Amino acid sequence: MTNPTPTHDAAADSWWRSATIYQVYIRSFADGDGDGTGDIAGLRSRLRYLAHLGVDAIWINPWYPSPLADGGYDVSDFRDIHPAYGTLDEARKLITEAHGLGLRVILDIVPNHVSDQHAWFQEALAAAPGSPERKRFIFRDGKGENGSLPPNDWHAAFGGPTWTRTPDGQWYLHLFAPEQPDLNWDNGEVRAEFESILRFWFDLGVDGFRIDVAHGMVKDPALPDLGLTEFSVIAHEDGHPHWDRDGVHDVFRSWRAIADSYPDPRVFVAEAHVRPGRLPDYLGADELHTAFNFDFLKCALEADKLREVIDRTITDLAKVGAPATWVLSNHDEARHVTRYGRAHTGVTTPALDQGHPTDLTLGTRRARAAALLMLALPGGAYIYQGEELGLYEVEDLPDSALQDPTWERSGHTVRGRDGCRVPWTGDTPPFGFSTFGSAMPWLPQPDDWKSYTAEANQADRTSMLQLYRSALRLRRTNPDLRGEEFRWLDSPAGTLLFERGNGLLCAVNLSGRPIPLPDATSPLLASGPLTKDGLLTADTTVLLHRD
Ligand code: GLC
Repeated sequence: MTNPTPTHDAAADSWWRSATIYQVYIRSFADGDGDGTGDIAGLRSRLRYLAHLGVDAIWINPWYPSPLADGGYDVSDFRDIHPAYGTLDEARKLITEAHGLGLRVILDIVPNHVSDQHAWFQEALAAAPGSPERKRFIFRDGKGENGSLPPNDWHAAFGGPTWTRTPDGQWYLHLFAPEQPDLNWDNGEVRAEFESILRFWFDLGVDGFRIDVAHGMVKDPALPDLGLTEFSVIAHEDGHPHWDRDGVHDVFRSWRAIADSYPDPRVFVAEAHVRPGRLPDYLGADELHTAFNFDFLKCALEADKLREVIDRTITDLAKVGAPATWVLSNHDEARHVTRYGRAHTGVTTPALDQGHPTDLTLGTRRARAAALLMLALPGGAYIYQGEELGLYEVEDLPDSALQDPTWERSGHTVRGRDGCRVPWTGDTPPFGFSTFGSAMPWLPQPDDWKSYTAEANQADRTSMLQLYRSALRLRRTNPDLRGEEFRWLDSPAGTLLFERGNGLLCAVNLSGRPIPLPDATSPLLASGPLTKDGLLTADTTVLLHRD
């Protein structure tokens, strides 16, 4: 089965409002040349698998040339492909082949910072303080005697200060690793360069961009102290000097005009970690199309909390006419099979979330329930590669294998995000990840992943993969799920019940005990078996139609 080929009619133009988008962490997805690193050739060989899964689009994490100090979020050239992943010519072929299978292609753009190896930063280092080359970045003199103290007290995301001193004594700002100098978005040249990069890829046929750190690009030029003891990803109060500043909206309005200048609309999805209620500011007819719903990803798997997040999402976004989106996992968070197998199922901080006892059987049951819930909600949904196989977080990677800058920068206290980036999918390592099987994957795989391959999933009618396929097929074919209509119905404590369209019900049982199905309904698809008496088991979701 392939998806319909993209066309230019009105319905196709709004594909993004209800799209299921599959996230490809290219370094770990599929290795086409046997060097242990995923690549475009590997991805091209699996496009049919993705079309058959039933997704509408793929989002590819940064595939540009990069020293990989932060897994490719340190880009040294935005108009080329990392040699380990392939060539621009292969990228063109990938886009054409994906389109031929009805899959749209979304890339990742990283506008907040570049690699310290990017030509601009190298030029800035070679130029004098105050020069136009330095003004593309945020260089400042230090405080204290001889300027030997950082210009302010901000903390960087992976640990340490946000400032690094250059040999001539000036400091440069980096909200992330020192290898990721922040760009100065008050500089017209920076704005023009990114507009040109967007056009470069749109001209090559890409359908949209995921915008990295969309809420961090504009800084208060005064760079005032924050008075905080550690990095926080979200603005904690009004007027934060580097998160969620109103100035970013100007940038996104100009980006939207570029996207809309193409006959078939190109779309944006924001990675914007903002306080509840602020997300709509990023969305709407003259700004970005959609944004990730991190409140949903981070929410504990508890009925009341989920209901609150779902309500707030739908209500807030409706104000600007933007569709909701839903996501359970990505390349920055522990995989949800693992999270849901713990006593505390929500996401707190990387330091607090590591090393808890995990029941993977329970986590998998709950992950199935959460997936069916997510795919029954109105709007768009994101699937992180491997979640459709039921992959769990690899928490016992050897220290020597860890590559996330968080490990080093935290003084070996926070292990970081490598556990959700382990290459997947054969029978013996590398489990079909590499078609050649010569080099071992760049991160070691657990031995029991043999039972998690696409082949193993395929053979089992009750597998996670079959659940995802069935749910995605219903999303496409059931008219009640295709619209945006949604309403809550009464249900017992600890459970959720809602109706989509006219007569499709979704019941989620998080109450810890079996509950009866709603009256006068019949099951269409369930995330797990019902009890012998036809009750909905704990930690199970069922889609039903009215009799
Ligand atoms: C985003 C990315 C993350 C990266 C960071 C810096 O949060 O998802 O992987 O480390 O930005 O670019």
